[in-house]
Amino acid sequence: MRPAQPNRVLQAHVLEETTDASSPSPYHTFPDPADVVRFRSQLLNWYNKEKRELPWRTLAITESDINIRTYGVWVSEIMLQQTQVATVKDYYNKWMKRWPTVQDLAAATLEEVNQMWAGLGYYSRGRRLHEGAQKVVSELKGQMPRTVESLLKQLPGVGRYTAAAIGSIAQGLVTGAVDGNVIRVLCRLRAIGADSTSPAVTEALWNLANMLVDPERPGDFNQAMMELGARVCTPKGPLCSQCPVQSHCHSYHKVHVKQEQKSKNLLGKLGTKTSKLPDIEDCTNSVTCPLCPSEPWNDELGVQNFPRKPSKKPPRVERTLTCVVKRPGDDGEEKFLLIQRPSKGLLAGLWEFPSLLLEVENSEKKQKGALCEEISRILGTHLTENLLQYVGEVVHIFSHIHQTYVVYSVCLEDRDTHTQTENTQWLTRSALQGAAVSTGLKKIVKLYDSVDSLTGKNTKDGKRQKDSGIMDNKKPQSSKKNKLSAANSSGRQLSLSSFFKTVKEECC
Ligand code: ADE
Repeated sequence: MRPAQPNRVLQAHVLEETTDASSPSPYHTFPDPADVVRFRSQLLNWYNKEKRELPWRTLAITESDINIRTYGVWVSEIMLQQTQVATVKDYYNKWMKRWPTVQDLAAATLEEVNQMWAGLGYYSRGRRLHEGAQKVVSELKGQMPRTVESLLKQLPGVGRYTAAAIGSIAQGLVTGAVDGNVIRVLCRLRAIGADSTSPAVTEALWNLANMLVDPERPGDFNQAMMELGARVCTPKGPLCSQCPVQSHCHSYHKVHVKQEQKSKNLLGKLGTKTSKLPDIEDCTNSVTCPLCPSEPWNDELGVQNFPRKPSKKPPRVERTLTCVVKRPGDDGEEKFLLIQRPSKGLLAGLWEFPSLLLEVENSEKKQKGALCEEISRILGTHLTENLLQYVGEVVHIFSHIHQTYVVYSVCLEDRDTHTQTENTQWLTRSALQGAAVSTGLKKIVKLYDSVDSLTGKNTKDGKRQKDSGIMDNKKPQSSKKNKLSAANSSGRQLSLSSFFKTVKEECC
């Protein structure tokens, strides 16, 4: 019998092999320049045909002023940081209509920015955009930075990826850009299975992206990589059969070689055929390689074996008591008491109902008393605890907090409760609609709106009734009777919840 001939690629790996993360095994890179040229061309041809028309892409192509282009792409990249493309589109169009230049944004107030951002989540992003715009106008004479390094250094909230994306898309700077989608694409392409957040993998991915990026069309190349990750090389159920760069993909190859081997074994048992596919290629130094997985390949996962992330820290669990405080307004239109959150930290500067974080060591009843005291303090009156009606619970998941709002309401008779300080205001429904409020507050309003809190469901002393149907994050039952409602300009009754759009995520 002839000894097995080692394949050429494997031989090359052995010669050049090293375990140093700065020059990884060729298995995890693109050692052949012709391959790189093919890769760029296949990816960009696909992008030319398949790309989505997105407002920031149109602006990057059609806008001749580099400052407006850079500002527009900066806004889009910040909005896209933690929010889906579909949600961002509307917000982006409204934003650019209102503040088409960095000077316009710099002249806005933070309150206006927060209002515009309401519902997008991760509110510090809007605040940093505003801060950055003021800096560009006051310190950089209105000129947007022109290098990746200066974008990174000068603009608050702009990190390595965002600087690279803005530089390449708006200014044609030749740099790779590695975001979550690109991490997935590259890890699968080059079978990088070590923790994708580790310094060695991060460096290897940036090196790969910088080497692959098309110098003629860096912005399109980077967006094509993102687009591929978002639409084809998806986290679950990737569409490998539609992938324009399938032939370069080590993960795909692994999966199909494995499948081929399985059927070969089966056929071997039955007798005859041989495989056309080569033997499995692999990193020849996988034991010490800082890019190879430390866990074994899982057949069931297929290409989804890549990338690997360390397991997440579980979110902090919190309970917060909150109270919808309502009073009749001067003109008969009811008003709601809103308190502004501190200017730093979670949901900075947004307006919320009077709230109190439940401390574990105190009973809920005791803290309901404390909430009542807090409202009394704000209003400068004395409220008794039994006026607070239990409404229900709302669960809201932040990126790092599992928050449950325990919602009460109180309906004040007193028309003289006119507290209005810098951080306190009474808002009508229509004013609340346009206010800078969080998604959590919108959910609370929706619950409040759907519960017949004025008749039957709550006892007079505000104690919970077991059959209220709204406990434990169950979907509240809608009640038509006594529903909070307001008349719109055409005189039609609108429920409070109808004022609010549904939005997905939210954080600081
Ligand atoms: N995610 C981040 N930037 C993007 C872009 N320019 N297009 C699509 N998705 C993105």
